[in-house]
Amino acid sequence: MSATVRPATLKDAERIYALVRRNADMLVPRSLGNIVESIDRLFVAEAEGETVGCAGYQIHPEIGDPEAAAVEIVSVAVKPLFRRRGIGRLLVKAVMDRIAAFRPGEIVALTFTPEFFGSMGFAEIPKTKIMHKLYTGCINCTKHDNPYTCPETAMVYKGTMEEGK
Ligand SMILES: CC(C)(COP(=O)(O)OP(=O)(O)OC[C@H]1O[C@@H](n2cnc3c(N)ncnc32)[C@H](O)[C@@H]1OP(=O)(O)O)[C@@H](O)C(=O)NCCC(=O)NCCS
Repeated sequence: MSATVRPATLKDAERIYALVRRNADMLVPRSLGNIVESIDRLFVAEAEGETVGCAGYQIHPEIGDPEAAAVEIVSVAVKPLFRRRGIGRLLVKAVMDRIAAFRPGEIVALTFTPEFFGSMGFAEIPKTKIMHKLYTGCINCTKHDNPYTCPETAMVYKGTMEEGK
């Protein structure tokens, strides 16, 4: 079985919405409107004639230091029947190739599956290191009292960020 990954189009919006919703316990919820607004920051994976996964990114500016903006990998989901076949990795690779073109200060992820990101060169960091994310994303979360009691693991990419690698 081979999968292909491509940038999302507006025709994919409802399928991405369904994928994120079906993984509500693992992913930050997103409205259909938010997905449409962010369609240029989303990718989809296709296999066996269906949409089987998605992934995207969000940019977090650093106050007073545009070059230090962090990019967060978000909304990574693969349909259960298609997991452990390398599709999640293909999706994150496509997102990272896109991100590399921006030359970000760092690439971060907040995840319940640290082994997955760990297999792609990410390493755990204290949540205090990604305050920009905590202020823009976690501050509006309704699942946990505060980011420090949330069981998600904060991770940062430790590899080199060369476009196309
Ligand atoms: C996490 C997720 C996206 C992984 O997708 P996937 O297509 O199964 O991932 P891959 O097959 O590309 O896995 C690559 C490597 O990551 C690691 N990995 C993936 N899923 C893992 C898991 N559940 N537990 C431990 N390690 C895992 C493995 O090292 C794997 O390589 P291997 O299969 O050769 O051992 C998928 O399980 C999923 O959709 N989960 C629900 C949503 C979620 O948790 N998203 C991530 C948070 S942003």
